[in-house]
Amino acid sequence: MRLFSKKSVAVAALLTSTSVVSAADVEVLHWWTSGGEAAALNVLKDDLSGQGIGWQDMPVAGGGGESAMTVLRARVTAGDAPTAVQMLGFDILDWAAEGALANLNDVAAAEGWDAVVPAALQAFAKHDGNWISAPVNVHSTNWVWANKAVLDELGIAQPESWDDFVAAMAAVKASGRTALAHGGQAWQEATMFDGVALSVGGVDFYTKAFIDMDPAALGSDMMKETFDRMATLRSYVDDNFSGRDWNLASAMVINGDAAFQIMGDWAKGEFLNAGKVPNEDFLCFRVPGSAGSVSFNSDQFAMFAVSDAGAQAAQGAMAASIMSPSFQSAFNVVKGSVPARTDVPNDAFDACGKKGMAELAAAADSGSLVGSMAHGHANRAAVKNAIYDVVTAHFNGEYDSATAVEELVTAVELAQ
Ligand code: GAL
Repeated sequence: MRLFSKKSVAVAALLTSTSVVSAADVEVLHWWTSGGEAAALNVLKDDLSGQGIGWQDMPVAGGGGESAMTVLRARVTAGDAPTAVQMLGFDILDWAAEGALANLNDVAAAEGWDAVVPAALQAFAKHDGNWISAPVNVHSTNWVWANKAVLDELGIAQPESWDDFVAAMAAVKASGRTALAHGGQAWQEATMFDGVALSVGGVDFYTKAFIDMDPAALGSDMMKETFDRMATLRSYVDDNFSGRDWNLASAMVINGDAAFQIMGDWAKGEFLNAGKVPNEDFLCFRVPGSAGSVSFNSDQFAMFAVSDAGAQAAQGAMAASIMSPSFQSAFNVVKGSVPARTDVPNDAFDACGKKGMAELAAAADSGSLVGSMAHGHANRAAVKNAIYDVVTAHFNGEYDSATAVEELVTAVELAQ
């Protein structure tokens, strides 16, 4: 597939100080290593190779990107920054504040990004009014993925309320299957926490707790209820959950070993990669109790400032490609996410993708769109990691819910 336009060549040239530019490779640091993620990454690699831009792969496994960010820091400290880096939310702004990122204003102006990228994404793609990254998608975290055949066999309807969901998990457990497929890694527990917090207190509570970091919300009864619901979820995972990768948890649902997974819509990429079809083989629905709210994260590619003109040209071409409407459709159809621009038609998307696009737009309109705490869009890494620690300690039985609430208030205060 060749999605490159002549316009992007012009943009690439524009981004360099020399008139004759030889295209260089891009070295891309990312954490897209699962089957579905790799399939989506291939859409990008193919697009760039169609433009004569080579790809040097720098994969750092680990969902959520914590390990990738550690490797990035080491590379930059060693004076060897990759040219393009997958990044989330506040991490982008932090690198921009350090002066490490290239300015993408020329490509953004030539391609009209200001008019088509939603404000919620621009908040992380711009620093001091300058474009410093190219958003490739919008994911959201408050989703449940369900094996339809398992639910049909047990006579379980798609749960609408939290109580329905608990009853459904109880019925699955009673049948001898795993009710909730889960990978015991802190970021996966935090991902469930996003959706569970929304199910308890909606965007108002979520915003006060995770975005405003208001001690009263962090220490509230609603937060205790959030932890209580996490403890309920803990009682429906299998015995071998510790350390399991998220895509292996998805595979449990795909194979019918488990009924449900609470995970961002990158999980859909695994279902599609396994040849599964929405509404026939699997269901996608919001964490019961959180419908109408969307906790989003947007993968963006930030370009590290480089002096080589060829490398700059490749960076500009990559940024232009990522933002082209045809690429945004082709890539996000495979990835499980939805486009990062508002003018991409939904025709090529499956039922879950169409639903995700409609719900994102509706949530943005109604003020029910919030940045994912688990994926770096609610607060800076230090605070996020402090929350991770408390959530995971509670999930693993170190704290009861009341203690977890107290620990959370203290941890967030100390991390700011
Ligand atoms: C998220 C990222 C997704 C997906 C997921 C699991 O942080 O935004 O694109 O890769 O991690 O790896």
